[in-house]
Amino acid sequence: MKMRAVVEGVGHYLPERVVPNSHFESFLDTSDEWIKSRSGIERRHFAAEDQTTSDLAVFAAKMALENAGFSADDIDGILVATSTPDLTFPSVATMVQYELGMTSGFGFDVQAVCAGFIYALANANALIVSGQARRLLVIGAETFSRIMDWTDRSTCVLFGDGAGAIVLGAQEGTGGPEDRGILSTDLNSDGRYRDMLYVDGGVSSSGTSGKLRMQGNPLFRQAVEKLTSTAEAALQKAGLNDKDVDWIVPHQANIRIIQGTARKMGIPMDHVIVTVQDHGNTSAASIPLALSVGVNEGKIKRGDLLVSEAIGGGLAWGAVVLRW
Ligand code: UT7
Repeated sequence: MKMRAVVEGVGHYLPERVVPNSHFESFLDTSDEWIKSRSGIERRHFAAEDQTTSDLAVFAAKMALENAGFSADDIDGILVATSTPDLTFPSVATMVQYELGMTSGFGFDVQAVCAGFIYALANANALIVSGQARRLLVIGAETFSRIMDWTDRSTCVLFGDGAGAIVLGAQEGTGGPEDRGILSTDLNSDGRYRDMLYVDGGVSSSGTSGKLRMQGNPLFRQAVEKLTSTAEAALQKAGLNDKDVDWIVPHQANIRIIQGTARKMGIPMDHVIVTVQDHGNTSAASIPLALSVGVNEGKIKRGDLLVSEAIGGGLAWGAVVLRW
């Protein structure tokens, strides 16, 4: 027997304001056609001026709890993957904990940029399989619109705001690949690439929060290779291979990266959850958003084998194999 971290509920939240590609044509030398053909993005959501990352996270958390049929009192802890916290500290997780009315348990943030939700899942899984927690809320929440340089057409058209959440609970399994829950994780980072995607400000450097800077094309070339190898490493750790996969639920940065990774893995696109056209790149929120949308659309079903992979600033990348 082996303890498994099994998904018990899922939810998401997207801010009301939907921004189509045409919005950028009025103040930048860009076009709907360029954005769509190079990235697959057609629209994204931007948070209202008074909405913070924790506000988005709370909505997603409440939907996940309701979907699981639990109240906040049933939760031992909250992990929030984010690179755009409300404040430098305290963590977004403690703000969510307060808003949910929890006065016990723990909360902390995980910062691995676009790979943040994968890192948070790996940490949550470790807490559950080691017996330190029985039930956890794992959230990815971002307001990347706050770190955009609106004069930089090569980045500001690509990102959006949103949040997704899952409830993970401890359940005994056999230890084999037929178990429900997280079956394996694979985490990687390589700081030699830290200049490829970064924010040019911070507490102990500029004293400002800074704006996002990205070398898109070199990152694109790193992404397909690293995403394929981490997904295959995670599958191998679980005793599975590409043919066992029902759904790839990838980080949603660029449709061409998603297609390239699926092609390399030999998995047809009708087995890939794609939301990039509607959400843009929501960094750590993109995978839980895609999970929630995939479930709501009736695609992801109990017992399906999922592999999720993500890459972002650091570079940091990784994958999780889980049976829904
Ligand atoms: O979530 C973290 C991970 N993020 C990623 O993995 C993102 C990876 N990178 C990408 O998705 C793509 O590289 C981009 C979508 C960012 C760019 O696509 P690309 O095919 O790599 O284009 P490029 O950067 O090579 O730029 C091609 C041309 C350039 O013009 P020149 O130098 O060829 O004259 C750019 O200046 O497109 C130009 N360009 C634009 N044109 C119109 C760049 N941004 C825009 C724009 N509108 N918004």
